[in-house]
Formats: sequence, C-alpha cells, structure tokens
Amino acid sequence: MPVVVITGVSSGIGKDLAELLINSGFTVYGLARRETDINGLHYLKCDVTNLENIKIVRNIIAEKEKTIDVLINNAGMGIAGSILDSNYEDIEAIFKTNVMGVITVTKEFAPLLSEGGKIINIGSVAGDLTIPYQGFYSMSKSAVDKFSECLSIELNAKKIKVTTILPGDTKTEFTKSRKTVIKDDQNGKALKSIKKMEKDEQNGASPRKVSRVILKIIKRKNPPVRVAVGFSYKLIIFLQRILPRKWVLGLIRRLYA
Ligand SMILES: NC(=O)c1ccc[n+]([C@@H]2O[C@H](COP(=O)([O-])OP(=O)(O)OC[C@H]3O[C@@H](n4cnc5c(N)ncnc54)[C@H](OP(=O)(O)O)[C@@H]3O)[C@@H](O)[C@H]2O)c1
Repeated sequence: MPVVVITGVSSGIGKDLAELLINSGFTVYGLARRETDINGLHYLKCDVTNLENIKIVRNIIAEKEKTIDVLINNAGMGIAGSILDSNYEDIEAIFKTNVMGVITVTKEFAPLLSEGGKIINIGSVAGDLTIPYQGFYSMSKSAVDKFSECLSIELNAKKIKVTTILPGDTKTEFTKSRKTVIKDDQNGKALKSIKKMEKDEQNGASPRKVSRVILKIIKRKNPPVRVAVGFSYKLIIFLQRILPRKWVLGLIRRLYA
C-alpha cells in the first residue's frame, strides 16, 4: 500500500484528505498538534514549527516504513488585519508555520521519498492574488509556491514530482482559527473586508472538493506543478496573469478595500 504523510490532519482539508486516502487504500500517517480520531489513521503528534518534533516523527515513520510515496504539506494558519496593525508575534507565527514549517518538513522527509514519489504543498489562490488585510497570508502562500517550483526543478533528477494545490474559499476551521487584529480602521474598511472574506470562506467549497483534486494528482504519473481548485479560480488566476497589474490591483481594491 502506498504510504502518505500529511501534516495538519486534525481538521478541515487535512482531516478530509486523510479519510479519503485511507478509504482509497493508502497507508496514511497524519501529523498535527491536536489528536484526531480518524479510523485507520496513524496519528503522530507534531508541531511543524518544531524541528525536534519533526525529526522524532520522521524517525518513527522511517523505522516502520523505510520509504514513503507521498508527502503532503497541508498544515497552515491565517492572520488578518492591515500590514501596519499586525503584531510582530503573529507575523512571525504565520511565517514559521506556513513557510518554515513547509521547508523543514520537506527537508526532513524528502530523503525518505521513493523514486517517482511526490511532494504536494497546499498553497492558496491568495498566494497569486494580493489580498488586502490578509497580506502576510498572501505572502506566505506566494513563498510556498516559489518553494514548490524551485523544488520541482531541483528534484527532477531524482524523479520526484512537486505540485502546489491552490484552493480558493473552503469551508473549514480556518476561518474560526484565524487571529484578527484591527487597531486603526479608517471608515471600518478592514473590518468590512475581513467579514466579507469570512463569509466567502464559510460559503465556500467543501474540503472534499480539494481532497479529490489531491487524490487525482497523487494518481497522475506526470502531475502539473500548480493546480487551482475549481474552474472559477483557474479563470481568475489566468486573468490576473494576463491583465495589466494596475487593473488587477484596482479590481481587488474595489472588491476588498
Ligand atoms: N480554508 C480555506 O479557505 C483555504 C483556502 C486556501 C488554502 N487553504 C490552506 O489549506 C490548508 C489547510 O487549512 P484548512 O482550511 O483545512 O484549515 P483548518 O481547518 O484550520 O486546518 C489547519 C490544520 O493545520 C494544522 N496546523 C496548524 N498549525 C500547525 C502546526 N504548527 N503544527 C502542526 N499542524 C498545524 C491544524 O492542526 P493543529 O491545530 O491540531 O496543529 C489543522 O489540522 C492550510 O495550509 C491553508 O492555508 C485553506
């Protein structure tokens, strides 16, 4: 049975994905800080911001399985508020989790990947689009995207495929867990914008939609380097690439600020 390691399995996309993959016959190791009761999951407590934790779980998995087939970097967090209002502590936390977490888990687990293995990183449409009042989140997901692209080139010789999944609004615990700081809100712009984002997420796609895309990527011999989830997000990403930057930013300002 192919062996998959997923970070962030205690809720949302990671939890749903673990369930889907277990039901599809994969051996799944799931990492998170909170325990989860998914049937058939090999749960291992791990904070992706803690190198010692990562090394311990990597050694446990290496001892049991020798090699793994797929690594999925899914664990992530959000913060909201303007760039000027955001606390240094929160900014550091988001980069430690969303960027350093992905880098560290990848560096520690990649040597276990078998030939033809895959690394799948969960980015976001927000990594392509600049989302005001979620700037640090956008920046963290852009970094994941660049990291994946570079890794895909460097690991080509080892026949390891790397894909970034770009979900759009998805209904998970992400909205509730996000920390928001608003100090100086001229005309209530930040609050209005953040409320809209929260509403969009809670009316968003089910995690299963994202999980199905990931399952397809796992099964493909030559997966693409980036995949947006859903036709509308594919279109948005395409348009924002070809339209003048000034138009794109103007449109985002109208929608969110
Ligand atoms: N929801 C959306 O609209 C959306 C859109 C685009 C991309 N995404 C991305 O999708 C991924 C999954 O998010 P989600 O929407 O499923 O949110 P979620 O329900 O809040 O799940 C986040 C998962 O990440 C784990 N996690 C967070 N910090 C961690 C840490 N330091 N160490 C280990 N695990 C950690 C959490 O587990 P513990 O708290 O138990 O550790 C949890 O299992 C994230 O990378 C997110 O950025 C989400």
